[in-house]
Amino acid sequence: MRLVVALSAFFSVITSSFPSLVFGFNPDPCQFPAIFNFGDSNSDTGGLSAAFGQAPPPNGETYFHAPAGRYSDGRLVIDFIAESFGLPHLNAFLDSVGSNFSHGANFATAASTIRPQNRTLSQGGVSPFSLNVQFYQFNDFHHRSQAARTQGVVWQKLMPKEEDFSRALYTFDIGQNDLTAGYFINMSTSQVRAYVPDLLDQFSTIIKDIYGEGGRSFWIHNTGPVGCLPYIMDQLLITAPQVDKAGCATPFNEVAQYFNIRLKEAVNQLRKDLPLAAITYVDVYSVKYDLISQASNHGFEQPLVACCGHGGKYNYNRHMGCGSKVTRNGKQILVGRSCQDPSVRINWDGVHYTEAANKWIFDRIVDGSYSDPPVPLKMACQRVAN
Ligand SMILES: *[C@@H]1O[C@H](CO)[C@@H](O)[C@H](O)[C@H]1NC(C)=O
Ligand SMILES: *[C@@H]1O[C@H](CO)[C@@H](O)[C@H](O)[C@H]1NC(C)=O
Ligand SMILES: *[C@@H]1O[C@H](CO)[C@@H](O)[C@H](O)[C@H]1NC(C)=O
Repeated sequence: MRLVVALSAFFSVITSSFPSLVFGFNPDPCQFPAIFNFGDSNSDTGGLSAAFGQAPPPNGETYFHAPAGRYSDGRLVIDFIAESFGLPHLNAFLDSVGSNFSHGANFATAASTIRPQNRTLSQGGVSPFSLNVQFYQFNDFHHRSQAARTQGVVWQKLMPKEEDFSRALYTFDIGQNDLTAGYFINMSTSQVRAYVPDLLDQFSTIIKDIYGEGGRSFWIHNTGPVGCLPYIMDQLLITAPQVDKAGCATPFNEVAQYFNIRLKEAVNQLRKDLPLAAITYVDVYSVKYDLISQASNHGFEQPLVACCGHGGKYNYNRHMGCGSKVTRNGKQILVGRSCQDPSVRINWDGVHYTEAANKWIFDRIVDGSYSDPPVPLKMACQRVAN
């Protein structure tokens, strides 16, 4: 409701005063020749798999019919974004076998954070490919891809052109793991909130660095309602047992919303600091929360229960994750899909969304209804006059 009002207010102000200025002088849809994506598992298309071993089956079964580096039964929001521009799905930068980067690259890896963390994966920590490392990789990719293009025709067909770096769409979906990282080392909510400004400072630095490399169009997802995900409710609800009407853990969603408020402020500041950039903030939180809290109205079932997992209230056990093999009484069991029909389920493995949910989310954000400014995806290169 609030959004609809804000939207119509925006359009009536703009269109009544200077209709042609909404998108500058050129109202044509953007022709993005490439997409460069940064983030965590919400948009990982093979990075963590390339570095630490493939996501096991049944991941990928719905669409790819085999594991495809994604933590989902099928496509992610970033895949639908690429498809909407007629571009191929993004290969992971870290995937050195068979990759074609002519239309972009994906620097996201599952379990990534904005800030470098002090605990490695083997210590129960997160991905070593934090956002600053993803930027180092992007910077290296930018320069070395251009050197490679001078080495022959095949390289010209595998690497983006120099001018594509300023014409590309830069997409971001990161922050969730920074928030949960604090809780997993037993920090209180106030301790987690206290480091949120530092997260946004580091995030803004990376956006400026990419702008310095020629990036101009930025599409930034805020962070989702992490308190509605089984891996959080299963592990952390004991320490903070408040749940809302949807059954989601309130303190964790409040921290996510606090992060999002600060992210929106950081984006506003970036628009002032980067005069040639078109930066769109996308309220993915509201879309995901609407999907989960109104699941049956949207044609989905059991929003808080994982489709692939094992045991408990949420069909989730962190020691028996989706696709893992566990030995019970000398017998090996594969933790597979336990739901009948993933197309009516939201949660795939306790941490990630199903393809059906990702498609639903994409369909809501693509037209700009959840964007600030209310710019559709295909107009994300147009800096809105302010
Ligand atoms: C990691 O440790 C360094 C040095 O103690 C500290 O400055 C930094 O804030 C720590 N990072 C995180 C994410 O806790
Ligand atoms: C890489 O993909 C592009 C677009 O799909 C295609 O035109 C190009 O031929 C591919 N490169 C190679 C070497 O196959
Ligand atoms: C957090 O607290 C739990 C329960 O008291 C304890 O088992 C765990 O070792 C603690 N973790 C860290 C990283 O301190």
